[in-house]
Formats: sequence, C-alpha cells, structure tokens
Amino acid sequence: MLRRTLPALRSVKDGVMDAARQAAKGDAHFPSLRGHPAARVNARESAEGQARLDAAEDERRRGARPEATTVKEFQVYRWNPDSPGRRPFLQSYFVDLAACRPMVLDVLQKIKAEHDPTLTFRRSCREGICGSCSMCIDGVNTVACLKPVDTDASRASMITPLPHMFVVKDLVVDLTGFYQQYKSVEPWLKTKRPPPGGREHPQSPAQRKKLDGLYECILCACCSTACPSYWWNSEAFLGPAALLHAYRWVSDSRDDYGQERVQSLAEGWDKLYRCRMIKSCTATCPKSLDPAAAISSMKTLHQLRKA
Ligand code: SF4
Ligand code: SF4
Ligand code: FES
Repeated sequence: MLRRTLPALRSVKDGVMDAARQAAKGDAHFPSLRGHPAARVNARESAEGQARLDAAEDERRRGARPEATTVKEFQVYRWNPDSPGRRPFLQSYFVDLAACRPMVLDVLQKIKAEHDPTLTFRRSCREGICGSCSMCIDGVNTVACLKPVDTDASRASMITPLPHMFVVKDLVVDLTGFYQQYKSVEPWLKTKRPPPGGREHPQSPAQRKKLDGLYECILCACCSTACPSYWWNSEAFLGPAALLHAYRWVSDSRDDYGQERVQSLAEGWDKLYRCRMIKSCTATCPKSLDPAAAISSMKTLHQLRKA
C-alpha cells in the first residue's frame, strides 16, 4: 500500500513544482503582467493558441496533414423576445480563426459582421475596462474581449449569457437589479469634515495603496452571477461585486462612514452574511480581484465591533 501511495504523492508534488515553474516562466514572458494572474494566463493562452494555428496552417500547406483546419465551430445561445413561441437554442457558426483576431469578442464581431447581423451582445471598450461584454464562455464567466479563443478546432466552443439572469436578447442579460444593489452601497465618498484647505481630502501613498485590488472592479457581474448564494438569494444578498465596492469605501481613509457602512450591510443578515465563502467569485474575476476576501474583511470588522 505504502509503495503505491508514495509515488502518487511525489507526482502531486512534481505537479505543483511544474505549475510553479510554469508560473515563473509566464512571469518571465509577460513581466508587465506580474501580479495579474488572469491576464498572464490569457496572454499565455493567446500566444499558445496563435502558435497552434500557425502550425495547422503550415502542416496543411506542406501537405503533412491535409485535414488540418483553422475553422472552428462556435455554439452561441440565441433567444429573441420578438419570437415568443421559439424556445432558446444554440446556433452554430463556423469561423476561420486564421482570418480572425484572437479574442472571443473578435469572433462575435466577425459573426455579426459577416454571418448574422441579428446576433446581439454588449461591448464597448474591447480593452477589459467597461465590463459590458461579460458572458459565459465554455462554462466560465468572463469578459469576451480579454478571453483568448480556444484554437483547438476539433472541439466546439459554447457561448451563453451570464447564468441565472433574465435574458433580454441573445447574450444580453438584464442587469437592473445588479446596478441597484451597487447603488445601494452608496459608492461615493461620504465625509463629516470639510476638506482641509477647503479644496480636497489628501491621502498618503500608504493610505492610497489600501485601495489596490478594490478600485479596479469594472462591474462586469461575472463574480455575482457565478455565486451560488447570489443565484438563490439575488434579491436579499447583495452579491460579491456590490460588496467589493462597499469595502472599497470602507477602506478609504478619506471616508468618515466606514462603521455605518458595515453596520448597515450587516443589518438584516442577508445582505452580507449570505456569503458562504464558496469563492466562485474570486475564481472567475477577469480582473484577478478577490471579492471573497473583501466580504470576509467586512464580516471581521462587523464581528470585532460587536465584541
Ligand atoms: S469583482 Fe471582478 S468579476 Fe466582480 S464585477 Fe468586479 S471585475 Fe467583475
Ligand atoms: S465567496 Fe461568497 S460571494 Fe463569493 S461566490 Fe462564495 S458565497 Fe458568493
Ligand atoms: S468590451 Fe469593455 S470589457 Fe469587454
């Protein structure tokens, strides 16, 4: 028994070491993305995907593998409120990746421009800044403009709306409740004192640093719609995105209402304490933020003030 178990343990350790080596290699290849794991993974996937496409084209040109193809199937969720009798369905589109830019949003733009102008989705910045192109790609909530296409043409990719939300049309979901929850945390500076000097509230570099990892949220809703507690209690539980923003203001040295903010979130229990620390939110955030940690910090603040 022992002999069988030890090699397995060693291989787990080897796997961890391999992952660490890969991560270090990724750092070396994308030094400007250090500290942003999601972007580093995307950059690596994008480079590997492009290499796979180039190899397939090369093999086909040389006749080494004539069946090698760069045309890939995308199964996209479709539903039109103007066709009430028609149930939602997955529509297949075939896109030549060799003639398309590398991100999933590029594929959707190509489908809309060249295959089907009726396909509906949101997008604006195509830089991971506006948060509007959030959707579920191959089972993972993310923003389509930062997500590299899986270039393995032998399997289809599936693109569906953010889960557990009301669909407006195709990949567009209704975010009214999500924005109302964001508004409910009063995401603006609230002070009791006038600014010293009458113009602005100064902040030291160390105080400003406390906002890192909080202010970068783009309100894409990937985290909230990946949270099982939010699926089941979306009217009572504020969800990880709104709570991350609440903690951003609780952590701001210029804000004088931190205590009241935490108290109001903890009142009635549901808004904050419905979080069960499942951490799907943190796992899916395309900006590598950690809403679960922010929620946990606010629970700790609340408990310490009660004690
Ligand atoms: S925390 Fe991340 S996943 Fe959630 S809304 Fe902000 S950017 Fe999107
Ligand atoms: S940690 Fe909390 S907010 Fe995040 S997915 Fe889990 S239950 Fe939801
Ligand atoms: S288009 Fe703005 S985040 Fe994707």
